[in-house]
Amino acid sequence: MEATNLMRKAAEALFPETEESQGAFLRALLEPAPRSGAILWTVPRREGEFETVPREMLPPWLPDAVELVRPGVKIGFAPAYAAGEVYPLDFSSVVAGSAMLAAREALPPQPRVLDLCAAPGGKTILASVLLRPGLILANEVEGRRLGPLRHNLSRCRVERAFTQRLAAEEIARFAPGAFDLCLVDAPCSGQSLLAKGIANPGCFHPSTVKGNARRQLRILAAAAETMAPGGFLLYTTCTFSPRENEGVAGKFLESSPEFTPVEVPHLAELRSPLADFPAYRDYPHRSPGVGGFAVLLRRAEEAGTRSHDPLPAPLLDYPVKGPSSGVA
Ligand SMILES: C[S@@+](CC[C@H](N)C(=O)[O-])C[C@H]1O[C@@H](n2cnc3c(N)ncnc32)[C@H](O)[C@@H]1O
Repeated sequence: MEATNLMRKAAEALFPETEESQGAFLRALLEPAPRSGAILWTVPRREGEFETVPREMLPPWLPDAVELVRPGVKIGFAPAYAAGEVYPLDFSSVVAGSAMLAAREALPPQPRVLDLCAAPGGKTILASVLLRPGLILANEVEGRRLGPLRHNLSRCRVERAFTQRLAAEEIARFAPGAFDLCLVDAPCSGQSLLAKGIANPGCFHPSTVKGNARRQLRILAAAAETMAPGGFLLYTTCTFSPRENEGVAGKFLESSPEFTPVEVPHLAELRSPLADFPAYRDYPHRSPGVGGFAVLLRRAEEAGTRSHDPLPAPLLDYPVKGPSSGVA
């Protein structure tokens, strides 16, 4: 596959100082090589089950529950996968999702977590393992993606989990100020899919990027309404476009002055030069993962009212049951 003009322009804008980085970035997208994938253990990690990258070669901040398996290891065929003991994630998903660790100390015990864009469930499961929420509501608007989401949460025995299929604005209307942490792993132009060898025509086209940026801003505005005072909003994507990512986060911050971007110290090396606030970028030519973006935002303690009430019943209509019941 040849780099299009739009891809070349994007590479020049992302790496203005070196042609070498532009070339390496484009090669990672155009000639995808087999990559190490991450696995997330939902039970205490067992040694020797998978062919993994030695711990000393991994970043020191990596949660104990995460390992990196060698390229080519078929995680989906392992008994541990069928038993819901491991969930496969792209390493860049772990990097972006790990920003929630910077919120952990400031969260109440057993926080209430909302995953607004949840299917197929990777970030929900990551949040469940890292934060041990008192309740986690995994929302997915696309009906055809709800089944796989419920199946994954059930198989991985995510506790105190519920699913919904509502527009973000509806959740905001039902439960203003109700959540301590909200994940917006937003629908995006998905430019990093190319590094997985997945065709994504038009992903660098300005109209694709513009449409996604608008949608992300709408979702973030609704997500903001659901946040308790002092709560955290984690906005992540799997794309490189600065009009999404930093552009969307910047616009959101302009219109929502009660939110402040939060430093994520363990990701300092990935700090984006494209924002004057802490935001983090991972690239497919520098990471075991295919690349992504994360920004962690915090709502001011005094903004709005925290709802300590139980969530309104309709939001809890679809609990996730364990796999033994046969019902997800
Ligand atoms: C990047 S994927 C989420 C991946 C998921 N968080 C994970 O880690 O497995 C984005 C999701 O947002 C959903 N989505 C699409 N439009 C949406 C909207 N308007 N509001 C909320 N979610 C939307 C998509 O169906 C998709 O499942």
